[in-house]
Amino acid sequence: MLIKGDLVHCPSLGEVAIMRNYLLRVDSRGYVDHLAHASHADSLSILMHEDPIIIPQGSFLLPTFCDLHLHAPQFMYQGTGLHLPLMEWLNEYAFKAEESLDSKPQLAESVYRRLAARLIEHGTGAVLLFGTIKAETNLILARVMREAGIRAFVGKLSMDISSRPTYVEPSTNASLEAARSFCDRCLDVSASLPAHERLVEPVITPRFIPTCSNELLAGLGLLSAEKDLRIQSHMAEAHDQIQHVLSERKVDDMDLFAQSNLLTPRTVQAHCTFLAPPTLARLAKTGTAVAHCPLSNAYFSAQPFRLREALDVGVRVGLGTDIAGGYSIDIMNAMRQSVAVSRMREGARISGHYQAAGDHTEQEDKVLSVNWKEALYLATKGGAEALNLAMGSGSFVVGAPFDAQCIQVFDAATGEGTGGLDFFQDPRPDGLTLETLEKWWCIGDLRNRKEMWVQGRTISRH
Ligand code: GUN
Ligand code: FE
Repeated sequence: MLIKGDLVHCPSLGEVAIMRNYLLRVDSRGYVDHLAHASHADSLSILMHEDPIIIPQGSFLLPTFCDLHLHAPQFMYQGTGLHLPLMEWLNEYAFKAEESLDSKPQLAESVYRRLAARLIEHGTGAVLLFGTIKAETNLILARVMREAGIRAFVGKLSMDISSRPTYVEPSTNASLEAARSFCDRCLDVSASLPAHERLVEPVITPRFIPTCSNELLAGLGLLSAEKDLRIQSHMAEAHDQIQHVLSERKVDDMDLFAQSNLLTPRTVQAHCTFLAPPTLARLAKTGTAVAHCPLSNAYFSAQPFRLREALDVGVRVGLGTDIAGGYSIDIMNAMRQSVAVSRMREGARISGHYQAAGDHTEQEDKVLSVNWKEALYLATKGGAEALNLAMGSGSFVVGAPFDAQCIQVFDAATGEGTGGLDFFQDPRPDGLTLETLEKWWCIGDLRNRKEMWVQGRTISRH
């Protein structure tokens, strides 16, 4: 496949590059094998033999988004019961919904199909998923994502403790056996495919400390190390959760995860809202990445994630929707919320409110806000790096898998803004500018998204 037009990506945190009139070629396995300006000698010689797909003026290619934290079964009740504190909400809504999918495979299939369609609609090409307890339901999730063509990392939940007696694994050993067997079954399917088509992988998923005994955590740490499997969980998320762990276990989340070898470069921890800079530095040393879920944090966490401080100490961070703790599946919203929350933090720092509230940050002279360009990085390359995707993922470089979305901001024929955008001056003479991109970032919506590819394959919404 050969494509010619404008490309946009974030090579590093805070940097947005507009590559105007580039020629990009994708090989038969879905990797970019040529990338240069259309007038470059190599591009010209390629163009002598093949006609490219033309991305018209006003449209551009952008890497697909990465969602680092989404509970697939909870998609069923997105936007429900968010008045409750976390531990009550889990018991009242999350566990019930997950249990119901574990007993109704047809319902699971239809929920997961709709979820895949919505992810595609919103430009999410890679997603780290929490599923349910039962292996079969997670195999349905894995199959549906594979059929949809989405890069998906699927976690069968490990829980040998629960506030809901009917939604728990029968013993620690049974839980460990089930985790091993799910991962093996998932990997067996992948093994039958060529390497570049292995878009779905299993993930070791201790739900969070309150649902996992120390023995289970230790066993999952060993299993992950033995098979080199990814790990995901929730850490230091909410007051009630933290209190629960301290009173039941006498140690905090991070120590428990650390002593079970669950903080590794293969790990993504959601939230981490209660980690202060010294602990964030400790986390960075383990190589663990964080899924920043600003909307869900606003409901359940009572305080924001220290995003700037985490980035400064070298924690790899990406964004998560946390469906259904967060009600929006749109990573564009997570980007906007991450900026909004960081600006509130910065405002509070300037006003000295942090001191008044007794929350002394270590770096009081540091700007805490992030901007739209940094958020766009987190949603694309930052997320890809947090997920350890193949080299160059989340950006446009030779050798990277071609995971891209086509965004239209204005109509090339009329100069009219499209989707959520309006222009009162014809944008065509200037073409695509940073100003136009910022406008799209703020008010663009799914109407602006025209096409999407993962590993070079077009993927469609249905
Ligand atoms: N902690 C443990 N389980 C969950 C969950 O389902 N959602 C959120 N937001 N936090 C959790
Ligand atoms: Fe969550």
